[in-house]
Amino acid sequence: MPARPRLVVLVSGSGTNLQALLDACADPAYGARVVAVGADRDDIEGLARAERAGIPTFVAKVGDYSSRSYWDRALADKVAAFEPDLVVLAGFMKLVGEKFLSRFGGLTVNTHPALSPSFPGMHGPADALEYGVKVTGATLFVVDAGVDTGAIVAQTVVPVEDDDTVSTLHERIKVAERAMLVESVGRMAREGFVVDGRRVRLGG
Ligand code: GAR
Repeated sequence: MPARPRLVVLVSGSGTNLQALLDACADPAYGARVVAVGADRDDIEGLARAERAGIPTFVAKVGDYSSRSYWDRALADKVAAFEPDLVVLAGFMKLVGEKFLSRFGGLTVNTHPALSPSFPGMHGPADALEYGVKVTGATLFVVDAGVDTGAIVAQTVVPVEDDDTVSTLHERIKVAERAMLVESVGRMAREGFVVDGRRVRLGG
């Protein structure tokens, strides 16, 4: 990793994980900087957070392209324009495809609100609650072609309370998730990382 690696962050919603990264990056000692924020939709708080921080933004909507594969290539082109050292999916609600992974595979991490390999997909907190687990959490992983299947960088554990709803549980997960994301991305930036099969070592 170069000094102060360049992060491109992709979002689809409220962007509280993005905000945690922006706040961390305000201190040069953190070791990384957010150079652009992209989204798959307009008018979301995640993009507004980037604009308030003076960070360039871009949008690539699936519906604006004639196929998913064209969208995937356009997304990769838009990300590539900012020459990232690491791409962070922070609440990005789309699966990236082959073209994206051929350029940024191994350099893209995603955060998922469950303890992988349990409860992959779009409804991690709801699925954990429904199953009745007593602990759940969040997982940061290196994105591969599967759904939340990539090699695990970090995990954080959160208890499930008896009176939890999907929303109270997800909010508690997100508090731990933001701390994990900031801590792990900072270490990846400052120390580097190595992906060896399913094992990820920080400080490579
Ligand atoms: C986060 O909990 C993230 O893990 C989840 O969306 C939330 C985004 O919150 N992502 C997924 O479920 C991806 N499959 P934020 O917009 O406030 O950062």
